[in-house]
Amino acid sequence: MNDQVKVLIGTQWGDEGKGRVVDVLAKDADVVVRFQGGANAGHTVIVGGKKHVFHILPSGMLYPGRTCVIGNGLVIDPDELRREIAELDPKPESIGVKLLISYAAHIVMPYHKKFDALAEAARSANGAGAIGTTGRGIGPCYVDKYNRVGIRAEDLVSPSILEKKLRVILNEKNPILEKIYGAPALDFDELYGLATQWGKFIEPYLGDSSLEIDSAISSGKRILFEGAQGTLLDIDHGTYPFVTSSSCVSGGASIGGALGPGRFGRVIGVVKAYCTRVGEGPFPTEDLGETGERLRANGAEFGATTGRPRRCGWLDLVALNYAVKVNGIDTIALTKLDVLSGIGALKVCHAYELGGKEHAYFPGLATILHDAKPVYRDMPSWDADISRCRKFDDLPKEARDYVRFIEESASVKVGMIGVGPGREDTILLDI
Ligand code: GDP
Ligand code: IMO
Ligand code: MG
Repeated sequence: MNDQVKVLIGTQWGDEGKGRVVDVLAKDADVVVRFQGGANAGHTVIVGGKKHVFHILPSGMLYPGRTCVIGNGLVIDPDELRREIAELDPKPESIGVKLLISYAAHIVMPYHKKFDALAEAARSANGAGAIGTTGRGIGPCYVDKYNRVGIRAEDLVSPSILEKKLRVILNEKNPILEKIYGAPALDFDELYGLATQWGKFIEPYLGDSSLEIDSAISSGKRILFEGAQGTLLDIDHGTYPFVTSSSCVSGGASIGGALGPGRFGRVIGVVKAYCTRVGEGPFPTEDLGETGERLRANGAEFGATTGRPRRCGWLDLVALNYAVKVNGIDTIALTKLDVLSGIGALKVCHAYELGGKEHAYFPGLATILHDAKPVYRDMPSWDADISRCRKFDDLPKEARDYVRFIEESASVKVGMIGVGPGREDTILLDI
């Protein structure tokens, strides 16, 4: 296995525990690269009992001497980024951590957040149904990127280009705001002033991420690409339209991280031992009863970004097999196995029932998923506290069987098991 360049992605609807797995893997990485998404992400890392939540920054910021890259595929809210940097403890400069922001990353402007809220309200009002976005302006910012009217990080430090771009944008957006939404128009001076001030803050971090990653690889350094969100929230491969607006799958690492696909090695899929989702959209194994409540309580399933309670249910192997295929996953990082201790009757979904027939494959037609009924297999459960287990053989037989069953069903080895939220609460196998 080529372990010089690894890609880590979420296999479900986000919040699989990517941040904590990145933190474990960053020990053996020199460069950690975020490649998509923005402040919609919330990646939790707990070290020595202290909790850190990363939104835009890569989760490798806590390791001395690392280079952390915010790739071209991201959409950055500079106010949020400034807050994150200010709150970092230890300070990056005190532990020799270098932060590099791609010139080509896009900037979330205040009007993107406004449009996010207005579009959600309109979708609710006209019966189409809200997506339940995080309200961070993600969708509207990516729309502007693909419409070629986005503001890139490089524009914040080029006053004349910034001015031209903003004038074009305001000409387009103000009539929409005023005439369609009945909202106040945007003020050029206010936006220009804010963007210029952001430019001063961001300038020291700006650089060419492609060059940085390429020269790191040439000098034998190890790179870890950190995905945000998850496969089922991917704009192409997720449960559209209840998805985010970026490419969360492993292929997205190539585009948003500026590295050719042939140069990637191991692909790690993070799998929560059960399943959660925040926001709207189909979720075949969702449990609206007591089991769902128990998973939420035992797993502390509340959003790291919005604080919303997460919808909970059993592990979905149909979706996992799909994620394995779409991402080319070589290794599974299984998280939150400890949450299943004492859960009582334990189930996994191995097929969907659709129109009276059993399907082992994730349906290609997104709309069908709303009607998919999970077909469960009962699994032997265990009561013992496993949070102090550090070797696979320390686990109770039923927990080992659960892990082996996932491996067999997905035809992929489990390389790491999370038995608690802390850095040390980890069983390392081969990852
Ligand atoms: P991410 O967005 O994929 O990085 O995941 P989040 O940080 O949003 O959510 C994962 C939550 O589960 C966080 O509160 C983590 O601290 C916690 N967590 C991660 N791994 C484990 C684990 O193995 N066991 C337990 N009990 N909690 C975990
Ligand atoms: P991490 O990286 C879980 C969900 C939102 C909503 C949909 C679209 O922490 O796993 P958006 O604001 O992106 O336009 O919202 O996607 N969503 C997430 N759910 N974890 C995340 O990130 C998410 N980022 C977005 O709840 O349903
Ligand atoms: Mg999260």
